[in-house]
Amino acid sequence: MVRIAVLVSGRGSNLQAIINSIENKKINAVIAVVISDVQNALALEIAKEQGIKTLFVDSSKFKTRKDFDQNIIEIIKREQATLICLAGFMRVLSETFVKQFKNRIMNIHPSLLPSFPGLKAQNKALDAGVKFSGCTVHFLDEGIDTGPIICQAVVPVLDDDTVENLSKRILKEEHHIYPLAIQAFIEQRLVCIGRKVFWKNEKNT
Ligand code: GRF
Repeated sequence: MVRIAVLVSGRGSNLQAIINSIENKKINAVIAVVISDVQNALALEIAKEQGIKTLFVDSSKFKTRKDFDQNIIEIIKREQATLICLAGFMRVLSETFVKQFKNRIMNIHPSLLPSFPGLKAQNKALDAGVKFSGCTVHFLDEGIDTGPIICQAVVPVLDDDTVENLSKRILKEEHHIYPLAIQAFIEQRLVCIGRKVFWKNEKNT
């Protein structure tokens, strides 16, 4: 059984979607550990309630970013996790970290990348006046939200949209596509060649 490490910093709705998909057998994996850099992250509570192992890693205890990342690398190895899912994790991971787990770290971002990387993606979409936005699941590379795109979902941007409304509409799609991408990874259907991710057919199709 594939073991997943989920890295979080906040609310945890994507974590909840992953947990639900595991329960509903839409994802054939177990969450080995949920790691947070924020002690009171709601996501940690969600995990604890489900009996999932949680760890708070206090960045202020480490001299450098590299040391902090190394600590997380060790936890992931100790837990024998082979897939790392960033779900609202608000820190940028170092090159060492990314190289260690090449094409085994996924992230979900609330825009149609490469548009609007970084923070406040929904605000940026509204400010830019785009008619469609959405969300992207991608493998992590050394840049910020620049890694190979695994899948995307599109939502309309309405004339009277607020950041809250648009975020809500996008989030619903995040909860749908993140589990799909995770299960495709587990089934070894994702083939990453250069910047492109190809989806192999499901078995027996
Ligand atoms: C989501 O919008 C995700 O796309 C972004 O951070 C947010 C996390 O939300 N990376 P949650 O903690 O999963 O509810």
